Amino acid sequence: MLTALWAAAAALVVISLPRWLPGRVVAVRGWVFTRINGDESIPVPGDLVGVDRFREVYSHPAASGRSRGAALSDLFWYWLSPGPEMHQEHLEEGERYDAVALATRRILSVPRARAEALTRRCVTRTLRDGQGRERRGVVRLRDLMMPAWAEFSYELVFGEECPPYARDLIVGNADDVVTALKCCGLRHMDRRDRLTAYLVESLPRVRQELPPGLTDREQALYLQGTFFNTAVVQMSEATAHVLMALAQHPEVQDRARGGDDRYLDQVISETLRLYPLFGIAHRVTTGDIPLGEGSAIPAGSVLCFDYPSFHRAGFPDPERFDPERFAPGHAPVRELNHIPFGMPANRPCPAWRLAPLMMRVAVRETLRAYRLDSTAAHTRSLPNRGPCLLTPLGAPRGPGHRLTLLFMRFRDDWENLWRSLVQLVLGTYMVWDARRLRLCERHFADLPGDAIRS
Ligand code: HEM
Repeated sequence: MLTALWAAAAALVVISLPRWLPGRVVAVRGWVFTRINGDESIPVPGDLVGVDRFREVYSHPAASGRSRGAALSDLFWYWLSPGPEMHQEHLEEGERYDAVALATRRILSVPRARAEALTRRCVTRTLRDGQGRERRGVVRLRDLMMPAWAEFSYELVFGEECPPYARDLIVGNADDVVTALKCCGLRHMDRRDRLTAYLVESLPRVRQELPPGLTDREQALYLQGTFFNTAVVQMSEATAHVLMALAQHPEVQDRARGGDDRYLDQVISETLRLYPLFGIAHRVTTGDIPLGEGSAIPAGSVLCFDYPSFHRAGFPDPERFDPERFAPGHAPVRELNHIPFGMPANRPCPAWRLAPLMMRVAVRETLRAYRLDSTAAHTRSLPNRGPCLLTPLGAPRGPGHRLTLLFMRFRDDWENLWRSLVQLVLGTYMVWDARRLRLCERHFADLPGDAIRS
């Protein structure tokens, strides 16, 4: 009798593991990261700066340091290697930053009709398999979308259709970076280096003007960081989030399929509110930021702007997915706590105009072809890469449909459990390794004094 009771209790613990263990593991991971990385940052919003002053502090001219002086930067440089010192997002202000930012703006300044047509072409191609047949069944939305955005970026930069070999190199690189960033896998420098070598070789074919004064390798790394990593990762994740939200809200999906672009924009805004691509964006203060009544944030502080917290503040029932928040007649977007592309006054995303247009086309094309369903967890960091069942529109939902969705849920729960343990181990190793290598700290230490700002 006692043995049976013990067996039942043990079975109960095992069955309930996916419910409680991942949360505990995340807490342990946070604790380990802070221990190794140092608890050096000021969270915003937080005790010192509330939600009401979030925009003011983020926009302050002294909130402009990007990499230098923050231990956290060593971690981002590690994940983005090779070439974080050439990545626009991580360059300090100065001549080099200006040249790089100008080149990015130039490459992104495509006419709207061309960007839409290119997106349509890349996405419809990706929605078919190698034999040109419609895909169907369970997919991971991030993986589904990545080749499309790889081809898009390639054509933007080279002005010609992306060959499969280049697409695979780009996807291999982008997937490796984002997988490491989420601590779901270690870095594979060979995949990243292969793309760098390809880009160095391909520089003469680049149609756009690249930042002057850089070596060939630096120009290749600039393209790799901004267009073949950030652009591909961000667009794949953002599109996966929107499709995932639609897959879990059938009534919203039906309405979005109706062809009303304004409604689709509301869906995109609400998705990026609930699932902003940045968890935190950090800045190192280059001077004091006065807070009034004699207090100030001192120069050299590391500010961590917390997007998910900001995006939830001031919205009623903030966890609910509700595109109506952005419907005409509600508060104008500029008055809402909603900055999916960053702060206009402090290095916002250069793709803030183009990205929503591209997403709209990608989502429209997918909805035109498929009915989407998902029972998997939808969280901001999307470590499960968005499991989703694609059923060609008009095709009957077979008897296995419900069963597939039940199995998806079950598999996702257990994957989540296993993944959280993997993230704990690999994350701890990478944080330790990044602190050991100190890529950012060493870069600035090696610069001659007068070159530091460029
Ligand atoms: C929906 C898609 C995207 C979202 C939601 C997004 C979001 C953001 C955000 C919030 C920032 C500012 C972070 C900060 O304050 O530190 C940023 C910066 C940046 N984004 Fe995007 N992004 C997207 C797509 C893209 C694309 C397609 C590109 C390709 C060029 C891109 C390139 C960059 C770069 C280079 C920066 C750094 C800007 C600088 O520091 O000057 N992003 N993005």
